[in-house]
Amino acid sequence: MTRVLNFSAGPSQLPLTVVQKAAAQLLEYGTSGQSVMEMSHRSSTFLEIVRETERRLRSLLQIPQNYRVLFLQGGASLQFSMVPMNLLKPKGKAGIIHTGTWTKKAIEECRKFGECVVLASGEADHFHSIPKDVIVPQDLDYVYLCENNTIIGTKYKTLPECGHVPLVADCSSCILSEPMDVSRYGLIFAGAQKNMGIAGLTVVIVRDDLIEERPELPSMMSYAVQVKHESMFNTPPTFAIYMLGLVLEWIETEFQDLKALQSYNQRKVALLYDYLDSSALFKNEVKKEDRSMMNVPFMTDDPQLDAKFIAYAQAEGLVNLKGHRSVGGMRASIYNGMPMEGVEKLVEVMKRFEEAQAIC
Ligand SMILES: Cc1ncc(COP(=O)(O)O)c(C=O)c1O
Repeated sequence: MTRVLNFSAGPSQLPLTVVQKAAAQLLEYGTSGQSVMEMSHRSSTFLEIVRETERRLRSLLQIPQNYRVLFLQGGASLQFSMVPMNLLKPKGKAGIIHTGTWTKKAIEECRKFGECVVLASGEADHFHSIPKDVIVPQDLDYVYLCENNTIIGTKYKTLPECGHVPLVADCSSCILSEPMDVSRYGLIFAGAQKNMGIAGLTVVIVRDDLIEERPELPSMMSYAVQVKHESMFNTPPTFAIYMLGLVLEWIETEFQDLKALQSYNQRKVALLYDYLDSSALFKNEVKKEDRSMMNVPFMTDDPQLDAKFIAYAQAEGLVNLKGHRSVGGMRASIYNGMPMEGVEKLVEVMKRFEEAQAIC
């Protein structure tokens, strides 16, 4: 089998050795006589998988002791609702920094539960830059942002100063790509299917003081209930948790820490941005200082030529390069699972395509 190079925004390409290990353990995990897919979530073997996965995550992200880790379902999208349901006080309000599709959805959901103030918006600039110097009123229940915009390809390089107001961040498309100072956040959430594994699992990291009993909430939507039951109020996404464990083990083995992984990711993406900046055919419209390390949209001036390039790349085994339907063009998502050779190949194919156009 020839594996394609998958530039999808998620679910995305996993490290080959992770897939190989999952395949080797698919019929039997250890000497348990069964696969992880068949295992009771209450069994000692599975509980050990969960414990080890949380231990690795805590160690890599250096999560302080006063934070809980939850393994939930419902995708990152459910957190657009769970965050206001749990963190908005009666008659309270949230502040959101609007940076595109994902914060628009979060604003819409938040307004179903209470007041949501847009503190700053990148809309006038088509979201090609991240709003800076945002003033955070100190009467907010929390400030919400999306740290990496998967669709436009923007990324916060500096977090806003929030004072005493807890910061909530959707880190779905940047978690585990670089070190982060968890103590600066009140709550972090991320779907696993980009940088952490497969679909079906959402990781929530929440500071103890934000976990409040909210008896009026559906139990499944309550952080307090999920914390009390250690993510096992109902059957958790067992296989996805196991896959997260394999990805974390891979990061430890290949890179030791997130600083080393960040440096690898920076070198990978620099290959693409350097080429884009020198290209006469392709361009990236994001303000340079706000460029994402994970998602790189690019385009030509002609949608037909974009389509031609996507087909050309596909024939070379480079798949899912089509940009998000809301922006068009192309997008290369270069998560942890994409090796350097994959980006080298992409740049080589883009160069060849550009040269062929120049001759036409
Ligand atoms: C930044 C961001 N937030 C949230 C989501 C929604 O994630 P899910 O499909 O897991 O609900 C996505 C999906 O791509 C995303 O990129």
